[in-house]
Amino acid sequence: MHPEEAKKEAKEISDWIIELRRELHRHPELMYEEVKTSALVRRELDNLGIPYKSPIAKTGVLASIGNGNGPCVALRADMDALPIHEETDVEFKSEIDGKMHACGHDCHTAMLLGAAKILKSKESEINGTVKLFFQPAEEGGAGGKLMRDEGALENPKVERIFGLHVWPQMPTGQIGSKKGTFLAATSFLDLTIKGVGGHAAVPHLTRDPVLTSAQIITNLQSVISRELDPLDSGVVSISAIHGGMAANVIPSEVKILGTLRSLTMDGLKGLQRRVKEIAEKIAEAHECEAIVEYPGNDYPPTVNDGDMWNFAKNIGKDMLGEENVNELDAVMGGEDFAYYTEQVKGCFVVLGVQNKEIDAIYSVHHPMFKADEQALHIGTALHTTFALNSLEELKN
Ligand code: NI
Repeated sequence: MHPEEAKKEAKEISDWIIELRRELHRHPELMYEEVKTSALVRRELDNLGIPYKSPIAKTGVLASIGNGNGPCVALRADMDALPIHEETDVEFKSEIDGKMHACGHDCHTAMLLGAAKILKSKESEINGTVKLFFQPAEEGGAGGKLMRDEGALENPKVERIFGLHVWPQMPTGQIGSKKGTFLAATSFLDLTIKGVGGHAAVPHLTRDPVLTSAQIITNLQSVISRELDPLDSGVVSISAIHGGMAANVIPSEVKILGTLRSLTMDGLKGLQRRVKEIAEKIAEAHECEAIVEYPGNDYPPTVNDGDMWNFAKNIGKDMLGEENVNELDAVMGGEDFAYYTEQVKGCFVVLGVQNKEIDAIYSVHHPMFKADEQALHIGTALHTTFALNSLEELKN
């Protein structure tokens, strides 16, 4: 399908895509709680007459279009929201206090439903299978891993996979990505410093976890500045510290949270090892104890196949013009799309949704985050063309 024609067809259903997106936006659900979101996806698939498997990965939906003969290509959308209280003034603002689609996964789900509609209308021409992954729990829950573990990439075997993410750093009408590692390997850090609490007037009778924490936090910064090759990339961020209640009491414990990032899994393991050693040894020097944990899932880096990025780039050029396709640098954000590209060739592409006129300028995960909805049909058109043109290429 010519990318321009896909864009024209997607434009015709743009209002419908936007309506779905707004319905999702009003009712954000956190990881593995996407019950209403999943029901909305199933409702629309039922209306379109598209068969699906559900549940998969707890709250996920796996739909299929095509005749099952020939090659198989997958398109992926994530569905979960974030524990953020929305501060925008949009009329379809989140109706749930403390929860918000601040990463645009509502847009991703609506764009993929748009592609489902167009692909279904062309099903008689599809010789092969297009799988649509509506996955839960991208925000730290590794829903992508669970989809993979429950067989989403098998029967029929997926040969290529594509994912889109809205990107507020880029204006509407543009896309971007890169060959190779695009997004980082990530880990959360949970650090507990245990000492001996007591009256702040007699510090010699205590073992002060506050001072020890300060030393640990300061020293952890030397991992990146002194130990990492200056030409490599890594992040050690301490983002929360909790300890103590009163001015005259030294607490017995301090809790520290943070995140580690690297562009390789080996790099991430290296950071984890050094953070643990430094925290434990500094704590020991102060006669305290450090308990270092990396809770949840360490996401692998998201690595794009070079040919798949070239393929996506050419579609982007035909659809949006050469000047609107950007070669980007790697980003230290993480993505569980990585679990798919560990096993299958694929490409993760970002879609511009920035529009200064409507104040759509804030980054994802910001309470003021807005997406320009005029970009959504472009996402639908990209998904549609990625799938149809891949099947065309793969059959040869
Ligand atoms: Ni996201």
